[in-house]
Amino acid sequence: MCGIIGRVGDGDAIDTLLTGLENLEYRGYDSAGVAVQNGAGIKVQKRSGKVQELKNSINGAPLEGRVGIGHTRWSTHGPPTDENAHPHTDSTADVAVVHNGIIENYATLKTQLREQGHEFTSDTDTEVIPHLIQQYLDEDMENEAAFRRAIERLEGSYAVAVMFSGEHVIYAARQGSPLVVGIEDDEFFLASDVPAFLEYTDSVVYLEDGDVAIVEPDGVEFTDLDGNAIVREPETVDWDPEQAGKGEYDHFMLKEIYEQPTSLSQAIEGRIDPETGSIDLDGFPAGTFEGVDSVQFVACGTSYHAALYGSLTLTQAGVQSTALLANEYSVSAPPVDENTLVIAVTQSGETADTLSALRKASENGAQTVTVTNVVGSTASREADDTLLIRAGPEIGVAATKTFSSQAVMLTLLGQRITADVRGEESVGDLSPLLSDLERMPDQIESVLERSAAREIAEEYDGSQSYFFIGRGLGFPVALEGALKFKEITYEHAEGFASGELKHGPLALVTPDTPVFAVFTGVEDEKTLKNAEEAQTRGAPVIAVCPEGHPATDIADAHLEIPEADSDLAGLLANVQLQLVSYYAADLLDRPIDKPRNLAKSVTVE
Ligand code: G6P
Repeated sequence: MCGIIGRVGDGDAIDTLLTGLENLEYRGYDSAGVAVQNGAGIKVQKRSGKVQELKNSINGAPLEGRVGIGHTRWSTHGPPTDENAHPHTDSTADVAVVHNGIIENYATLKTQLREQGHEFTSDTDTEVIPHLIQQYLDEDMENEAAFRRAIERLEGSYAVAVMFSGEHVIYAARQGSPLVVGIEDDEFFLASDVPAFLEYTDSVVYLEDGDVAIVEPDGVEFTDLDGNAIVREPETVDWDPEQAGKGEYDHFMLKEIYEQPTSLSQAIEGRIDPETGSIDLDGFPAGTFEGVDSVQFVACGTSYHAALYGSLTLTQAGVQSTALLANEYSVSAPPVDENTLVIAVTQSGETADTLSALRKASENGAQTVTVTNVVGSTASREADDTLLIRAGPEIGVAATKTFSSQAVMLTLLGQRITADVRGEESVGDLSPLLSDLERMPDQIESVLERSAAREIAEEYDGSQSYFFIGRGLGFPVALEGALKFKEITYEHAEGFASGELKHGPLALVTPDTPVFAVFTGVEDEKTLKNAEEAQTRGAPVIAVCPEGHPATDIADAHLEIPEADSDLAGLLANVQLQLVSYYAADLLDRPIDKPRNLAKSVTVE
C-alpha cells in the first residue's frame, strides 16, 4: 500500500506531483519521492518521512520537467529510509519506477538479476522492476517491449508507473492494486486514487487488472499486457475538490466528523420514502436475494464494526447472519453455497484481506455484494453487485463518516434481504424507522453543536486505559469507539459487550479507567447495571444516552444523544465517541490524520 502519482503535459510537473502526493498521503507517509524527465534525463529526489520533507529538500534544489512520477510509501519490504523510498531506478538511472503492491517473486528475480551483474541499493521488492527492464533494454528491446516483458515476469500485486530517460511518456500497469487515469484536455494524470488529481480533472478512467496505460503528451492508449487495444471510457466523478480539502478545519478527521449530516443525507437521498415506508436501493429490487438462506459479512477495521452492526440487525430480524474478520476468512470461512450471500464491506474497495475473502466466497459459489464508497474499486468490480455508500472522499486515516454511512446502508440493505428471505414484498411497516433515518442528519447536527466531548476528553486526559461498553447494536459502537480512541491517541482502549465486563475485563477496572457506556434503548437496564459494577470498583462512568435516561442519574458524566429508533441510536452515540477520541488526541498533540504505523488503505495481506 502506497500512493502513486504521474503527470504528463505542458509546463512544469513538479507542483502537480507534490500536490498529488500530499493528497495521497493517507495511503502511507513513511517516505516520498519524485522523478521528473527533463532535457538532461531523469532526475530523482526522495526522502524518508512525510511529503513535507521531500518538499523541503526540493526547495533547496529545484527540479524541473514536464513529465514525472511520484510516490508516497507505507513500508512493507525494508524500513522507511531514503534508499528504500521510491522512485527506484536501474543502475544507469535511465528507468525510474514507482510501485504499489507486493512482488511475491522478487527474491527469485533479485537473485537472477544479481547473477547477471545487477547491483541493488535498497531492500525493496520494487527495485527488481527497473533492473528487469534494464535487462531487456540491454537485449535491444524498445522501451515499451521491455516494460511489457518485465511486467509479465512479476507475480503478486502491483500498480506500476515507469518513465524512460529521453521519452515524455509514462507506462503504467495494474494487477491487484488500484490505478486511475485522469484526463484534462492536454494534461494527463495517473494515480492510485482520484483525490490525487481531483483539483485538475474529474474525468477518470479506472484501470482493470491486466490493463496497461501508455500516457503520452497527446493522449492515453489503453491495451492489455500483450498490447491488444482495449476500450476504457472515462467516467465523471462527482466529488468536488472542496470536499477533498481540509477547509476551515484543523484536521480532515474533524471535517469528516462534521460532514456526517451531509454524507448521510447523500447516502439516503432518493433511496427511502418514509411516507410509504418504502426503500429503493438502485440495483436491488424486491426478490434480488430470493433463495438466500444465510448471510456472511467480511470486512476489516472500522468496516468490520459496520459489518457487525449490519449483521446484528439481520440476526435480530431472524435472518441467519454472521460478521467475520476478512483476514481470518482464509483459514476459518464457514461453509457457503449458492444460497449464501457474502457481503464485503470496505470503504476503499481495495483492502487486500477483504478482497481475498470476497474471492474465496465467489470461488465457493456464494452470491456476493460489495458495500463501498469507491466507484470502480476492485471489490466493486469483483462482486456480483455493489451498493455505494456515497460518503464522498474520506482522507483521515481513522474512518468516521464512512462508518455511519456503511451502517445506515447496511440497515437498509438488511431490510431488503430480510423481506426476500421471508418471501415478502417488504418487512412490516418501515415508516417509523425511515422517518427516524430521515431525521438523523439533523440529529447528528445537534450532537455536533452541543457535544460535551471536548470537556470530557480534558477531564479524563492522562487516564491509564479507556473502556467502551455496549449491548446489541451498542456493542459494535463500543468496539468502534475503542478502535478510534487507540488509533489516534495511542492510549490503551478496549471495547467490550457490556455483559462481558464481569467475565474478566473487570479485573482491569480502577479509578483510572473511565468507562464509556453506550445506551441504545435495548436492555438498557442491564447495561446500566454493568456500568454500575465498574463504577462500584471506582471507575468513572460516562453515559452516552438521551437526556433524562436513568443512566444520567448515576453517571459521572454525560454525552447526550437525541431519542432515536434503537436501530439508529448507536450511530448517534458513535458521533459523540468520535469527538471524544478526536479531542483526546488533539490534547496529546497527535498527528490525528496520519497516525503512526497506519494507513487508510491496506493493500497487503
Ligand atoms: C485500514 C484503515 C482502517 C480501515 C481498514 C479497512 O486498516 O486504517 O481505518 O477501517 O483499513 O479499510 P476498508 O477500506 O476496507 O474499509
